[in-house]
Amino acid sequence: MIKIGFLHTLIRKEEKLLMEAFAAIADVELMLFDIRQLLINPVKPDPFNVGVILERSIPFYSSLQTIRYIEHLGIPCINSFHTSHICGSKYLTSLELAARHIPQPEFRLVFSLETALKAAEELGYPVVLKPVIGSWGRLLAKINDPEGIESIIEHKTTLGGFFHQVFYIQKYIAKKGGDIRSFVVGNQCIAAITRKSDHWITNTARGGRVDNCPVDPEINKISCAAAKAVKGEVAAIDLFETDDGYLVNEVNHTMEFRNSINPTGVDIPGMIADYTVKKARGEHYV
Ligand SMILES: Nc1ncnc2c1ncn2[C@@H]1O[C@H](COP(=O)(O)OP(=O)(O)O)[C@@H](O)[C@H]1O
Ligand SMILES: [Mg+2]
Repeated sequence: MIKIGFLHTLIRKEEKLLMEAFAAIADVELMLFDIRQLLINPVKPDPFNVGVILERSIPFYSSLQTIRYIEHLGIPCINSFHTSHICGSKYLTSLELAARHIPQPEFRLVFSLETALKAAEELGYPVVLKPVIGSWGRLLAKINDPEGIESIIEHKTTLGGFFHQVFYIQKYIAKKGGDIRSFVVGNQCIAAITRKSDHWITNTARGGRVDNCPVDPEINKISCAAAKAVKGEVAAIDLFETDDGYLVNEVNHTMEFRNSINPTGVDIPGMIADYTVKKARGEHYV
């Protein structure tokens, strides 16, 4: 019997499906750990006592602290502290992609209105201003002119906390159709979907329509390269298709996948569970 830890907060559809997938694998005992119940005390014995932990909790900053503790105990976590830390920040992800020459929308990081205006001028309007840490398409602003920059930055500076004093600005990419979300498990791109919407923000959490997207060699290559750049074992990659090929927009480390199983016909939770168990057993994933 091999023990797998499952770190969670709210049990969403994804977590239910993952738990079912683990239950279907012989000789696996899944131990649930709700981070809201955890009391981290580094001088106490390991409260987990498992081979590997799959991290599926929602609040980013709390999970990050917990993953660091898990690794402190010598337990491998999927994904690692390194991966979660990098993927949690669009800016840190962009730096890793840039270091490996993986194509991405051009971006700048600035800290003042003056440099934000300069950055937007360099990139060319429209630009997209994003919180460095964020998800579900929240607080994204597509800005068409310097007046837009001025007003958004005034709002952020006046209303926002310290996270909103850092301005991540990307070139707006006119995507062909929608965008693509691909799923990487281990060294393999296992599935991909297109997300289309009448709005320029196509997140399924905001009503984007989903279709299967066959994984061609190009999608496989860039998706695996992006996952590898952040050392991600289980990751979802946002891709934009342009006339010059694919761009990596971001890498997500605890992805949602409920809307992607039916269109792709791929058992995403089953493959994640399988990968996790193989890691715990010390087997190489093929
Ligand atoms: N630079 C951009 N150009 C065009 N569309 C964008 C750009 N950045 C984001 N989007 C749209 O907004 C969505 C959400 O942006 P993203 O950076 O993935 O943030 P989140 O972490 O909230 O998902 C993307 O999937 C895409 O549809
Ligand atoms: Mg996204």
